[in-house]
Amino acid sequence: MKILVIGSGGREHALVWKIRQSPRVSKIYCAPGNAGIADQAEPVALAADDVDGLCAFAEKERIGLTIVGPELPLSLGIVDLFESRGLRVFGPNRAAAQLESSKAFTKELLQQQSVPTAAFGVFHDPDEASRYIEKVGAPIVVKADGLAAGKGVLLCATQAEAQAAITTIMRERQFGAAGDQVVIEEFLRGDEASFLALTDGSHILPLASSQDHKQVFDGDQGPNTGGMGAYSPAPVVTPALTDQIVQGILTPVVQGLRQRNIVYKGVLYAGLMIHHGQAKVLEFNVRFGDPECQPLMLRLKSDLVEVMQAVVDERLDQVSLDWDDRAAVCVVLTAEGYPGSYEKGRAIAGLEQFADWQDGAIFHAGTKRQADALVTSGGRVLGVTATGTDIRQAIATTYQAVQRISWPGMHYRRDIGQRALAG
Ligand code: AMP
Ligand code: GLY
Repeated sequence: MKILVIGSGGREHALVWKIRQSPRVSKIYCAPGNAGIADQAEPVALAADDVDGLCAFAEKERIGLTIVGPELPLSLGIVDLFESRGLRVFGPNRAAAQLESSKAFTKELLQQQSVPTAAFGVFHDPDEASRYIEKVGAPIVVKADGLAAGKGVLLCATQAEAQAAITTIMRERQFGAAGDQVVIEEFLRGDEASFLALTDGSHILPLASSQDHKQVFDGDQGPNTGGMGAYSPAPVVTPALTDQIVQGILTPVVQGLRQRNIVYKGVLYAGLMIHHGQAKVLEFNVRFGDPECQPLMLRLKSDLVEVMQAVVDERLDQVSLDWDDRAAVCVVLTAEGYPGSYEKGRAIAGLEQFADWQDGAIFHAGTKRQADALVTSGGRVLGVTATGTDIRQAIATTYQAVQRISWPGMHYRRDIGQRALAG
């Protein structure tokens, strides 16, 4: 069977790396991919949001299964389009993808299903939003309703900051139409955790636990990024918490969607705040996390393609997931200045040493080939990912590998995985 993977990040490289191990697969394409993916899958020069072009390509090449990495094509309805042409595709349809593309939709669903989440209000009118802030006070969180590349959530310590956030999002429209509505919610305290599961719209199959590090600097300092590193397993996600999340959060959400005639198929990623052993939903993502996907793929022993087929066919109850007992850690190497502005085109040195690396994999994100050189072409550049007998060992092996890679201005966090040791 031919596979098409859509996306160009470390997540998609990890998916391609894992899919290559499946005996069911004859050929893998990746659109648009990156320099590392191009060594393992045939690159297709189509952007991830070119849904018509991708559909035409899949029809022409008779792709047996398409796997959508990022949220944007999902929110544009790529799954609906593929299904209307009889093409098999892994990921939620447009209506289901609202769990990520509309925070107002999600909060209202959570409320109706009695799923624990921060108290909130939804507003179309900036003046009403301002009055609500005056009424409930600070600290408070202001969120643009739509997709804003992870930047549409403003944590406000004071009322003045919250009022400024309303101006930025609704009056100045800094996130465009994503800010036509805002969700204003209670500021929650606690430990953040991610929880990823597969679902076919009826059954829920949790993935191994994992956790990312969002801030750019050590000790969780500095601005949020897409993710500076991740590890699996994550001790904060205890078996008791797993039951609570599956029974009290994921099941009612998937059922609530069904009541709206929406069948959610794909990966459902819950961002949670844990306080006194109780999980509340911060947000959902409708795809694998990046970089959580990288350590997860290193640990997954089952055939990913077989499991994804079971999701598409709505028979997820017939499969199970087998995980390597070892731990895995991914350290993301970024360009100087990320998540702000940064330069591209810096030559990357050291990767030739990893041709026969047995302990893990170097997953590419923002890389490309220029003449004969491998150069940086994005903010997140590489995800060095390794396994170890436990988290401590995996951290050591990963950082030993990181030491062998360099380019001018390369940045990374030195404390990825430390949170797993602290608890
Ligand atoms: P979101 O994209 O909604 O997960 O928000 C991005 C980040 O903002 C989360 O990972 C949290 O660190 C933080 N955050 C979001 N909502 C809240 C909240 N209600 N209380 C405290 N922190 C929050
Ligand atoms: N690592 C967070 C995300 O993928 O959104």
